[in-house]
This record gives sequence, C-alpha cells and structure tokens, in this order.
Amino acid sequence: MNLKNRIIGHFSKDEGQPLPKGTGGEGVSPKSPGEKAQPLMVRALSEPEREWLQKIHKKLMEMIDLSLIGRLEQKQARTQICELAERIMDELAVPLNVSTRQFLAKCIEDEILGLGPLEPLLSEPSIADILVNGYGKVYVERYGKLELTPLRFQSDAHLMNIIDRIVSSVGRRIDESSPMVDARLKDGSRVNAIVPPLAIDGPTLSIRRFTVDRLRMEDLIELGSCSRTMADMLIGIVKARLNVLISGGTGSGKTTLLNVLTGYISLDERIITIEDSAELQLQQPHVVRLETRPPNIEGKGEVRQRDLVRNSLRMRPDRIILGEVRGDEAFDMLQAMNTGHDGSLCTVHANTPRDALGRLENMVAMTGLDLPARMVRAQIASAINVVLQLSRMEDGKRKLISIQEIQGMEGDIITMSEIFKFQRRGVDEAGSVLGTFKATGIVPKFHEQLQKRGIDLPFELFDPDRDDL
Ligand SMILES: Nc1ncnc2c1ncn2[C@@H]1O[C@H](COP(=O)(O)OP(=O)(O)OP(=O)(O)O)[C@@H](O)[C@H]1O
Ligand SMILES: [Mg+2]
Repeated sequence: MNLKNRIIGHFSKDEGQPLPKGTGGEGVSPKSPGEKAQPLMVRALSEPEREWLQKIHKKLMEMIDLSLIGRLEQKQARTQICELAERIMDELAVPLNVSTRQFLAKCIEDEILGLGPLEPLLSEPSIADILVNGYGKVYVERYGKLELTPLRFQSDAHLMNIIDRIVSSVGRRIDESSPMVDARLKDGSRVNAIVPPLAIDGPTLSIRRFTVDRLRMEDLIELGSCSRTMADMLIGIVKARLNVLISGGTGSGKTTLLNVLTGYISLDERIITIEDSAELQLQQPHVVRLETRPPNIEGKGEVRQRDLVRNSLRMRPDRIILGEVRGDEAFDMLQAMNTGHDGSLCTVHANTPRDALGRLENMVAMTGLDLPARMVRAQIASAINVVLQLSRMEDGKRKLISIQEIQGMEGDIITMSEIFKFQRRGVDEAGSVLGTFKATGIVPKFHEQLQKRGIDLPFELFDPDRDDL
C-alpha cells in the first residue's frame, strides 16, 4: 500500500499525486481534506433486508455446528456459510434480487466469522479510526475528519456480542463488573471498549486502525508534518541517544512519530518496549515487547506499566521505549533515564511542552512519595533532553509544531529553549492551515553531543532566516 492509500486526504483526488514539496509552506494550499475525500462506499441494510437477515441468520445457526466451522480454514468456512445462506434463501423464497442476496450472504459471513457490520470498514484503507457510540451510531475518521456512516448494529446486545468477541480473543473480558477494556484486533489495530453502566448511552467501541504499511520519516516530510532539516536533527537526536519526550493531544501522531524515530536505533541494540496495548512496530531484530495486563475476575493479577518499567531494568536494556507515560511509572522512567539508560523514548498526552513537563511532575506525585517539587523538576530536567510537540491542526494534518531542548533549572523552574517551530500564517479559503517551519536561531547544546558521535549538523540549519522547507 502506498502513501497515497494510507493518507489519502493529503493528496489530490484527480491525479493521486503527492502535493508539492513544502506542504505546510506558504503558497501551498491543498484543498480541505473533506473536499477531496472520495465518499465512503459502504452499503447499509434497509429495514426489510435487516429483517430477512435476522431470519436467515437464525435458521442458519440452527443448522450449523459452530465448533466445526471454527476448525475450518477461514476461506473454506466462508464458502460453507455462504452456500448454506443461499440455500436457506431459496427455501424461504426470499423476494430479493441476486446482488442483494449476495450482499446478505456476505453480511452473514461477517456476522459469524468476523466483526459483523464493522467488517466493510476494516477493509477500507482510508479509515483511521472507527468509533461506535451505542448500536445505532458508527462514525469513522477519514482524511482527519469524522463522519457518520449508515452502518448500524441490530441492538446493543448485538454490539456487545461483537465487543465480547474482540476482547475474548486477547484473553480479556468485559461485563458490568469490568466495564472498560483495551484490546487489539488480529491486524494490530488498537481497541478500547467501555460499556454500561460506565458508558451511559450504550456500549462504546473505539478502534485506532493499524496502518499496515507504517509511515516513514520521508512520508512525514512529504505530508508536511515536519521539515527535512527537522527530520535530520531528529535522526541525530535518536542516534546520539538523547532522551526524548514526544508530547501531543489525542490522535496527534505521537505513536506514529515514536515508531518512526525507533527506526533509527541501531540494529545491535537491545530494545524493550512497554505499552498498555502493543502498537509499536520495531524493525530491529533484538526487541522485547512487553504489555500490561488488567486484573482478572477476582481483581488479581494486574501488571501495570510501573511493574514492567522496573522489570525491564533487570533485562539489560540498551533502550527503553515507553509507549505512553500516564501514571506513576513516570518516576521509574525518569530514574532510569538518570541512571544511564539513555536513548529512551516515550510519549505523553499534553498540549504544550511546558504542560508535558507539568504532567510528568504530577505523575511522579502519584507514586505517593512526598518529594519536594523542586527535586522532581530537577530530576525531569536532567533526565529529558528534548521535547517534541505534535499538534493535530484543524484541517486534520499533524504537525511537529515545536522542538525544544531542556536546558536545566533556573530557581524552581525548568528552562527550555525552542530550536524549531511551526510559524502559522493563517488558513486558506479551503480551510487548510498555512505556515512554515522555522529555526529560532538557537543552536542547541546537544549540538556538541551529536558532534561527538560523529553527527555533524551544519550551523546553517539553525539560521532563522532560512525558509525551512
Ligand atoms: N504525520 C502524520 N500525518 C498524517 N497522519 C498521521 C500522521 N501521524 C499520524 N497520523 C495518523 O493519525 C492517527 C493517529 O496517530 P497516532 O496513533 O500516532 O496518534 P497518537 O497521538 O498516538 O494518538 P493517541 O493519543 O490516541 O495515542 C493514525 O491514524 C495515524 O495514521
Ligand atoms: Mg498513541
């Protein structure tokens, strides 16, 4: 799958050509993603079709032995179900034309072997997120924008059934006593489900699609998410083993950037990744992937990120990659960074670099250790070298809006200096954000560190008068 298929919203519909280099630079005014979007081609069932589907499905379930079907190859099972469904439709003399009958048979296959009404969405590459709010509302995010689809489940019970199928396949469960769960689809897509009584209006499912062909640094440049100069510096930062915190709001591309950066870790390093639900796709041969575990039905057996971070320190890691720091593991992660585990990377949910540091401070407070704020800040300041701030712009694009170096402490305050930023100039008539990536003129202290490692970034890169495309 090429970049065009992955992020269709960033390309012109007619030619399917990438936008000119320098997207995000002035003068480049891509149409709004919504305007370019091909309509989503999914067919929903009409009311009479839905009634037939239920009848056929019920009859079919009386006839087949699911355990036998489960033992067949997926393709064989689909053929068998399809044949049976056709036979039932003949018996019932279903008054529908051939193509509708085929469509119903496909829906039944999806129902029995797949994720029901979600199946057509899972095979559509332009969809980044699938969001189900109760049985009647299925939204998708495409081209950075949300849209309501005509698809629906038959009832909340039907939706619960599908959710149950997803979570049980990864050995988790969901019910009133454990109403929130993270899981993964077979293709690696991240899933969160939350059901009543916590979700008041019915079971709610959020799926972050796993891009089969992940984005690379070149793609980020082409998409206007960062400039080539910034990319060169980021690569240097990873190679020089600086500790990096990637900050950004929901869906701003944190995990994606983390993934891209991990691609520059050398092949002979032993990397340990820690995540709540594994999303990272490292290409190196020597990777140990760890994932947290929620408590079991008796409330026992929980393994949290903090436990995994501590355990990872005993596994002789060269690098520790923490998918998202969100709780008291922040304390152990900072300690690790301060005690020789450099080159660590993690993400945090925050809207500015300053907020990101503030959040870390609050997370350390969650450990219950009564540490003075100044001490915690000093720990943060000496542990983290660089903060990368991502933002999801209103046109749906993701941009690396700031690269900041942590300098140290001044009194009680952590000092940071911005090295690169996105200078916004407004919005064009199609709603696209205009602006340029700029150096601020500050040469980072880590320039020297990079140089020592043989990564020589020319001083011109930091010239604020360069239009950095
Ligand atoms: N630079 C980019 N340009 C375009 N799309 C991107 C970019 N980075 C990420 N995406 C897309 O945006 C979506 C969200 O990306 P990602 O999972 O990396 O975000 P996140 O910040 O980690 O989200 P969350 O807060 O939910 O963990 C994905 O569908 C991804 O393919
Ligand atoms: Mg993420």
